[in-house]
Formats: sequence, structure tokens, C-alpha cells
Amino acid sequence: MTNKNKVSKRIIEQFLFPSVTLNRTKLQKTVTGKTIVITGASYGIGEQLALLFSTYNVKLILIARTAEKLNAIADIVKENGSLCNIIVADFYQETETERAIKELFTLTDTIDIFISNAGKSIMRSLENSLTRYHDFTRTNSLNYLAPVNLILATTPLIKATKGQIINISAINALLLPAPKWAAYQASKTAFDQWFRCNLTEWKIMKIQAKTIYLPLVNTKMIAPNEKYKNFPAMQPEQAAFRIAKLIYSSKSYDKPWWLLFLQTSSFFGKYIWEKISFLYLKKQNEKSI
Ligand SMILES: NC(=O)c1ccc[n+]([C@@H]2O[C@H](COP(=O)([O-])OP(=O)(O)OC[C@H]3O[C@@H](n4cnc5c(N)ncnc54)[C@H](OP(=O)(O)O)[C@@H]3O)[C@@H](O)[C@H]2O)c1
Repeated sequence: MTNKNKVSKRIIEQFLFPSVTLNRTKLQKTVTGKTIVITGASYGIGEQLALLFSTYNVKLILIARTAEKLNAIADIVKENGSLCNIIVADFYQETETERAIKELFTLTDTIDIFISNAGKSIMRSLENSLTRYHDFTRTNSLNYLAPVNLILATTPLIKATKGQIINISAINALLLPAPKWAAYQASKTAFDQWFRCNLTEWKIMKIQAKTIYLPLVNTKMIAPNEKYKNFPAMQPEQAAFRIAKLIYSSKSYDKPWWLLFLQTSSFFGKYIWEKISFLYLKKQNEKSI
């Protein structure tokens, strides 16, 4: 990318993702001394959240597959004055999720904030998915079923502390289905629907359930997709700031300021969107023949 393009990208990013100022006093009041569970804490947004909270004397429980990375983050968290335990588990497998839940209960009998963050995205055409049923079972396990399992199991503990459950979702869950995104969008939307179905019941339990709908974030999740290298994206530190802000605020969701325009266009422009997607894919297919 040329320097000129880099500058334009940065200007667009500042416009789309304006910087967030944290009210450190409010954050401190909300999280200090609290037990916070973060899934997917070894990289990206989860890692940034763990590092951000670590300076507020919290008790963190971090879950993911990569033990070395979790241990390295736990060391920093402890250096910053907080407590930290890790659970190594692969949410692709239900037995591993069940084991993680058991391990979680041996580590704590109290949870104040549960952040459901672990996730995986896949962009793949239908044609390239024909022999890849596992893409769907994996994304479904990780993005939908494992968080359902974890949240069902931990709800009594979160109810006891009148705590919070945070859903790290994607703007795609609120927009029209997009070609090639079936595995990701179906699993993220399934979890989002499940989450929204429970909101009233959680409210009655005095649990605050909140969702952040994130745009593209510059993490390893989007790295395999060459096209995204030049796309405007939010930085993971900024995503962590927005999540922290959501946690101490009374709002139940956070989404980019411009998403409302896309949602409105989704509502009124379904036909146009389908036509544009069709013409775009047709052109791409013709190019590759
Ligand atoms: N990046 C984006 O553009 C974007 C946009 C909207 C929403 N989001 C959402 O933000 C959340 C965090 O994503 P990110 O961008 O921070 O991605 P990331 O950097 O790839 O991090 C994903 C996290 O999930 C964990 N994970 C992946 N597969 C797992 C498995 N099978 N079992 C247990 N843990 C697993 C990873 O750890 P291990 O590999 O060590 O297991 C890692 O800690 C996801 O829910 C994602 O859907 C991201």
C-alpha cells in the first residue's frame, strides 16, 4: 500500500471508528475486586481486554486453546497486580467445553462478569464448501453452542452477584445475509438470537446482559483474507475500550454510529442488495473462468 493510501485509510478509520475515552474512575468502580471470565483471551480483542482489566486489581479467568499464549498473558496480568487463572480448552468439541466448565467451577464459586468472546470467522463460497461440512460444525460449536453451554452453566453464579454477561457479536448479525459468509453469519446470528431471547429473563434475575456489535477489527481473525489488508478496520485495543465502556455504562448494547444507516438500507434495499451481490459474484465467476 502506498503512503498516500495509508493516510487515506487512517482518515477513513478515524471517521468510522472515532477514538473512545474511558472514564477510568467508573471502570475502576465497576471492575475492581471482581471475578471476570473471558473466553478467547489468548489473542486479539480478548487479550486486549485481559490486559486492560489487569491494572484494576481484578480476578481474571482466561480461556482459549493456546496454553503458552495464555500463560504469557497471565504473567503480565499478575505483574500488573491482578489474579489470573487460565483454562485451556478447545470449544470445537463439546466434551472439552464440558471439561472447561468443570474446571471453571473448581477455580471459582463467584462470577461477576462473563465475556463471551471466543470466535472464528470463515469466508468461503458455497462451491468451495461442498466437501467442508466441518466448517459449519466448528463455527456452530465455537460461535453458538459452546457459549450457550458456558452461559447456561454460569448463569446461577452471575445471578448471585447480579453480574453481567457480555456478548461479543458482529455487525453482520444485524444485516442482510451476505454471500460466502454462511458459516460465520449463521452461527453468530444464532447466538445473537439466543442471547436476545433471554434478555427479559436475565433482567428479572437482575443480570445485565449486553452486546457489542463490532465492525471489522484488525486481529488474526481477518488475517487470512487478503482483501481485508486494505480495508478500514478498528484496532483491537479500541474494541477493548468500547467493551469496557459498555460494561460500566447502563447501555445494553454498543454498535458503530453508522450501522443504523446500513440497517435501514438492509430493511428497504433488500432487492437492490440481492441484485448487487448477484451481479458482483457473476462478474467474479466470469473473471475466474
Ligand atoms: N476481528 C473481527 O473483524 C471481528 C468482527 C466482529 C466480531 N468479532 C468477534 O470478536 C471476537 C474475538 O475475535 P478476534 O477478532 O479477537 O479474533 P482472534 O484474534 O482470532 O481471537 C479469537 C480468540 O478465540 C479463541 N478461539 C478460537 N478458536 C477456539 C476454539 N476452538 N476453542 C477455544 N477458543 C478458541 C482464540 O484462541 P486460541 O486460538 O488460542 O484458541 C482467540 O483467543 C469473536 O467472537 C469474533 O466473532 C471479530
